[in-house]
Amino acid sequence: MSAAPRGDAPGGGRYGETVFRPEQAGEGERIDFGALAYDDITMARLHALGVGPGWRCLDVGAGTGTVSRRLLDEAGVASVLAVDRDVRFLDLRPVPGLDVLEADITAPGAVSGRFGLVHARFVLMHLAERERLITHLAELVAPGGVLVLSDAVDLTSERTPGTPYSAAMRAMWQGLRATIGTDVSGVPAYPHLLRGAGLASVAAEIHVPPLLPGSPISRFWADTWQRSRAAMLATGLVDDTAVDTALRYLDSDECADLSAGMLTAWGWKHATAHEDA
Ligand SMILES: C[S@@+](CC[C@H](N)C(=O)[O-])C[C@H]1O[C@@H](n2cnc3c(N)ncnc32)[C@H](O)[C@@H]1O
Repeated sequence: MSAAPRGDAPGGGRYGETVFRPEQAGEGERIDFGALAYDDITMARLHALGVGPGWRCLDVGAGTGTVSRRLLDEAGVASVLAVDRDVRFLDLRPVPGLDVLEADITAPGAVSGRFGLVHARFVLMHLAERERLITHLAELVAPGGVLVLSDAVDLTSERTPGTPYSAAMRAMWQGLRATIGTDVSGVPAYPHLLRGAGLASVAAEIHVPPLLPGSPISRFWADTWQRSRAAMLATGLVDDTAVDTALRYLDSDECADLSAGMLTAWGWKHATAHEDA
């Protein structure tokens, strides 16, 4: 893996090192719970944008590769370059057309080439210098192509009822911010940032999966809390008992809360007269 600049999290940590270590048992399953909750929404959007046969695609921070594989299997794209700082989950199920690259996307020159689709889901929110990265990802879009970014939006506010869930979520966002620099506060600005990166016909949407006991999204948050428990406790906002209470609450019929949503923003690079679409 190429050397990369360190993140600017207050704790100096980085995704996959301090929290969400891929070598920790069950991390692939945690990513898959998120994928189960959101893949159909992502694929419907990519389909609506016209991604299909003949497209060369880049999936940044591809995780377990569920979107990369569905692009090949269902959308019939020509190829997908799946990039991740750790590719162990991508290597598990090779499929024709899927190229895997282990690289840190924050490192200069980590990825080169031009792609009809550049896609990054639940990645930029964990990384410093999001604006610079969005500009870089826009550069990787071929003329006539599209950049699609999805990240979490926290829909709670100071008027959100205090529940075990909302307390745990508040501690999780604050704890992840302090340890690895995760920051979802800027996600609603993505359409504006895509426009600023020179892309056109920019638009965005939000999907909020229902928090039902045993649902993929509920299991995703439960697993995420377990993995970030130390960071949550360090905020002083919750203790072990509060986290355990929130886990039981999330898995019960008592739960009456709003999940964080997934904002998907996209923007097009105009085809120019002298370049191919
Ligand atoms: C929450 S997972 C999302 C995975 C996948 N995009 C999805 O939505 O199912 C974040 C992924 O981004 C990868 N990642 C984090 N920082 C990265 C970096 N600096 N360069 C490349 N990949 C990174 C992680 O290894 C992980 O696979």
